Amino acid sequence: MKRFVTLTDNQTGQSIELPVLEGQAGSPAIDIRTLYRELGLLTYDPGFLSTSSCRSKITYIDGEQGILQYRGYPIETLAQKSHFLEVAYLLLHGDLPTQEELEAFTAVIRGHTMINESLKRFYDGFYHNAHPMAVMVGVVGSLSSFYHDSTDILNPRHREIAAYRLIAKIPTIAAASYKHSIGEPFVYPRNDLGYCANLLHMMFAVPCEEYIVDPVASRALNMVFMLHMDHEQNASTSTVRLTGSSGADPFACIAAGIAALWGPAHGGANEAVLNMLEEIGDVGNIDKYLARAKDKADPFRLMGFGHRIYKNYDPRAKVLRSMCHEVLDKLGDPNDPLFELALRLEEHALSDDYFIERKLYPNVDFYSGIIYKALGIPTNMFTVMFAIARTVGWVSQWMEMITDPEQKIGRPHQVYEGHLNREYVEIEKRV
Ligand code: CMC
Repeated sequence: MKRFVTLTDNQTGQSIELPVLEGQAGSPAIDIRTLYRELGLLTYDPGFLSTSSCRSKITYIDGEQGILQYRGYPIETLAQKSHFLEVAYLLLHGDLPTQEELEAFTAVIRGHTMINESLKRFYDGFYHNAHPMAVMVGVVGSLSSFYHDSTDILNPRHREIAAYRLIAKIPTIAAASYKHSIGEPFVYPRNDLGYCANLLHMMFAVPCEEYIVDPVASRALNMVFMLHMDHEQNASTSTVRLTGSSGADPFACIAAGIAALWGPAHGGANEAVLNMLEEIGDVGNIDKYLARAKDKADPFRLMGFGHRIYKNYDPRAKVLRSMCHEVLDKLGDPNDPLFELALRLEEHALSDDYFIERKLYPNVDFYSGIIYKALGIPTNMFTVMFAIARTVGWVSQWMEMITDPEQKIGRPHQVYEGHLNREYVEIEKRV
């Protein structure tokens, strides 16, 4: 039987029956599209606590159970068995590729790894110690000025090429941002390397020496990136969709996504976690910092803790936590004091009533920084790493949005609380 919710305005006595949409899984949603037209009423939901903004077939999260699946595949299985380009194909196309499809996809991505030589000159305009995320926003935003031949969003071939270009070029742009920040020459991509190995090569090779990519580092990066690729309608993905809803080209949309990701409540948290752990410094200081996190008068929050959707352990954090042991054993310091501190901090927080009552668990950003650090990636590049992986999710979600027959320009309303019809007073008469 079709489910409805009846809404009655107690002032006018008018009622409306609103249909309930049942997805494949997850909470049903009340379809309120006719509400304003029929009753002249709006809904109010700052931060979208109870709002579904679209229908999607890409990523499923059950926040209560701590489940994350891409196209129906559990994230833990993909992280264990797959690799970056295979999962990228899955997110973009809906199914895992056959061997032939994967080879063709890999060849196409490899064919787009270089950036235009003129684009490289942009970097000289940035201040020498600019944050790499600031550089990313600017350089990715400029891509539409180079690739006019793939900005017709109504043309499926253009959309596809733009998606491939973004996925292929983002590591090259990111590595160049890093090289610029440390004053080293840019390193060209090497198409004989895998996606993550090539990124490590572009970040850490120098023209005067041979650089051999450590397969353990490249495998670790693959796993971290797969965990970060998509997370349904988070702030940056919603930004990409909202930007794209106006018909903006895909390069502009991804630049907008990168800007949204940068904030410390979102992707910027991985950088903030490492800075926080360094500030805490010692297990003996944990209780002091937990007290600060609980104090509403203090803006300090425990970075890498809490999530809008997960009211259970973030499944990505679970994989990363166990990866830390392996990566530190093979690449870093197995007794890394920051990892020890993170483990103790987690232990203290998870036994504290404040965190228990609010269901605050470690999220994806809590342990990723420790892995990045072991890979030699500097702290200010952590959010850039996140942006590289999330680009796949952003372009997949953008593609889904463009082809959605229900898609409209995103344009929320507001509850206006300001002045009305004020008299203009000449400046000399104002007090
Ligand atoms: N430390 C201390 N208190 C917290 C924290 C925290 N990290 N997170 C939430 N709370 C408290 C919050 O003060 C509120 O308490 P009360 O009910 O007494 O007012 C309650 O928990 C609910 O929090 P909220 O801010 O209403 O929850 P939200 O869904 O709006 O925010 C969040 C989610 C992720 C922004 C928030 O938990 C946070 O700021 N965490 C730290 C930053 C972080 O790690 N961000 C990464 C998120 S995961 C990766 C990603 O999205 O990129």
